[in-house]
Parts: sequence; structure tokens; C-alpha cells
Amino acid sequence: MSVVLPGCLSAPLALVNECPWLSTFLLLVGALTFTRFAIKTVLVFAQTFILPGKNLKQFAAKKGSWAVITGASDGIGREFALQLARKGFNILLVARNNVMLTAVAEEIASKCSPSVETKIQLIDFSKKDEAAYEGLKSTMAELDIGILINCVGKSHTMPTYFVEIPTQDIEDIVAININATMRVTSLVLPGMIQRKRGLILNLGSFAGSIPSPMLAPYSATKSFVSTFSSALQEEVKSHNIIVHHLNTYFVVSKMSNIRRASLFVPLPADYVRAALSKISLSCGAAHTNRPGTLTPYWSHAVLDYLIHVVGIKSLFIGYTHGLHKSIRKRALRKLERESKKQ
Ligand SMILES: NC(=O)c1ccc[n+]([C@@H]2O[C@H](COP(=O)([O-])OP(=O)(O)OC[C@H]3O[C@@H](n4cnc5c(N)ncnc54)[C@H](OP(=O)(O)O)[C@@H]3O)[C@@H](O)[C@H]2O)c1
Repeated sequence: MSVVLPGCLSAPLALVNECPWLSTFLLLVGALTFTRFAIKTVLVFAQTFILPGKNLKQFAAKKGSWAVITGASDGIGREFALQLARKGFNILLVARNNVMLTAVAEEIASKCSPSVETKIQLIDFSKKDEAAYEGLKSTMAELDIGILINCVGKSHTMPTYFVEIPTQDIEDIVAININATMRVTSLVLPGMIQRKRGLILNLGSFAGSIPSPMLAPYSATKSFVSTFSSALQEEVKSHNIIVHHLNTYFVVSKMSNIRRASLFVPLPADYVRAALSKISLSCGAAHTNRPGTLTPYWSHAVLDYLIHVVGIKSLFIGYTHGLHKSIRKRALRKLERESKKQ
């Protein structure tokens, strides 16, 4: 039986038949591409499900070392504080709400070793207040800081088109997500360089790699976190300091407005446990060349992998836009119902 090839294929195939070196070359390229893909896929799954990350003892846990956590009063930051305290780090809790920070400090005192110390530093990062940064600097001056978690973050109360976002919200998002991350890092880094050890985790979001319509400022600031972390990681690795951009999909919290955990939305406790167990790996980010990025939670890692295998960014941007339109509709309907009740 003879197969009739379309005209567009017959010419290239004739060329391949006539030049054996061309078919060998094409075969080699195909084999290399497949091998590269297979190795990266194995890396993603091995790092996510099997390989352990660096032991946190190397950052001097139980030896008087401190972990500084911004946004420590609630959600993911609060959970980092509790889990790092359990691992033997002293904890400097940073946020605005004294009552909530005190509750976290009390929980640490009741659940962790009595040798674990806590301190509280009140600061409103949206204010870009130099005196407040000086206060934070002097609190940290005496501390041997092994870990910094830049967790503080602000998003939009609901998806909103950029033209309708109040200027103050845009300024707050930049001050909190960008300025605070850089300023606190610059306060902590000299000590880490001097001691030749340190871990810096910067909370990022999938919105940083998939531009998110109707959350444009938030999405762009999280893209900053990714780029900043990669550049800094390269600068400080010779000082034995690890910098990670923690690439995060949804987590149950006040910010995400999701109250129940599900397959793709872990509780903060599960998310933080995954992050702390995968230091120095990439997990879901191992498939693409994103130095410093770690997608630690297993279902987020699989999603990250699939998004990059599909690779059509515009598809995901369009999907996110549709999703945000419907989230906004629902949020507005909820507001309307609540205003009618009053
Ligand atoms: N939850 C998610 O689905 C998700 C997904 C991707 C990335 N992330 C990122 O993860 C990080 C933590 O988010 P989360 O969900 O845990 O949020 P959250 O539960 O709302 O907690 C935010 C924390 O930041 C503090 N904070 C907010 N504004 C502040 C300000 N102006 N100055 C000082 N502290 C301030 C809050 O404390 P006070 O109110 O006491 O100040 C609180 O401790 C953020 O960077 C976020 O972008 C979260």
C-alpha cells in the first residue's frame, strides 16, 4: 500500500532521504530534546515527592539564632513563626497588630522549648516610615539572624480593572510587596554575610509568572519578588546564603479569602511544612530555568510543571481574566447582599 504525502511534506522528506546526515542530525536533536524533557520531569517529581531539602540546623537552630518574619501575625507568616520556633529558632515577629502578634508569641511560649525567645516589632510597611525602619534596624542589631521570611504582602480586596484601582491601594501594594521586601532584606543581609550563613525566603505568587488581569499591580509586584530573589541568590551564594522565591498558588488565609483547604489550596501549616522541608531545591520550578524559585507544595508543584509544559502563557492569562471577572461579580453581589442586610 502506498501512502500519498501532502505536497508540503514530500519535499522535506525527499531531502531527508537524500541526505543521511540530515536525518541523523534530526534524530539526534529529537533524542536530545526528549532526554532533556525527561530529565527535567524526573527532577520535578523527585524533588517534590522524594528528595529532602537542606537541614535547617545549618542556619544555627537551637544555637541562639533568630528567624525574622514579616507579616507574622496571621496566615502563612504566623505559621512560619510557629514552625521555626518548634525547630529551635528564636523569633522576631513583625507586623502591625500587637494583639495578634502577642497571641503568636504566647502560642510559641506555650508550645515550644522554654529556651526559645520571641520579640515583637510593630511596623506598618505601607507608611514607608524611616523612623520605623530605624526601629526595626536597632531591634535586629543585636540578633544573630539565621533566617528572614519576607512574608508581608498586600493584594486587592477583589479583582479590579487597573483604571478603577484607587491610587492609595497601588502605593500601598508597592510599599508593602516591593519596598518592605528590599528594605528588610538590606537590613538583615550584612549580618548574614558576616556570619557566612543565612536563608531568605521571599513569598511570591503564581500571579508573578502568569500576569493576572484585574490584579495588575499585585501581579507585577510578585514578578518583582521573583526577579529580585534570582538576582540576589546569585550575588550571595558565595557567602553561603540561600535566597528563595517561594512560588505559591492559593493557600487558605485572610488574603486569599479561601477558608477551606482543598487539593490545590493547602492550609498554611501544610504549605509552610512543605516549604521548610525543600530548602535549596526547586520542586515544581525545576522544569524551567528559574534560579532561586522554589514551588514547594506538591499540588502547586504539579500545576507549575503542567503550566510550563503547556507553555501557552496567553491561554492562562485569558483563563485568569475570565476567572477574575466572575470572582468580582460574586464579590460585588455579596457586598450588595450585606449592604441590604444593614
Ligand atoms: N494566601 C495565598 O493564597 C497566597 C498566594 C500566593 C502568595 N501569597 C503571599 O503570601 C504572603 C502572606 O499571605 P497570607 O495569605 O498569609 O496573608 P494574610 O493572612 O492576610 O497575612 C498578611 C500578614 O501581613 C501583615 N501585614 C499586612 N499589611 C501590613 C502592613 N502594612 N505592615 C505590616 N504588616 C502588614 C498582616 O498583619 P497585620 O494586619 O498585623 O499587620 C499579616 O500578618 C503574602 O506575601 C502573599 O502575597 C499568598
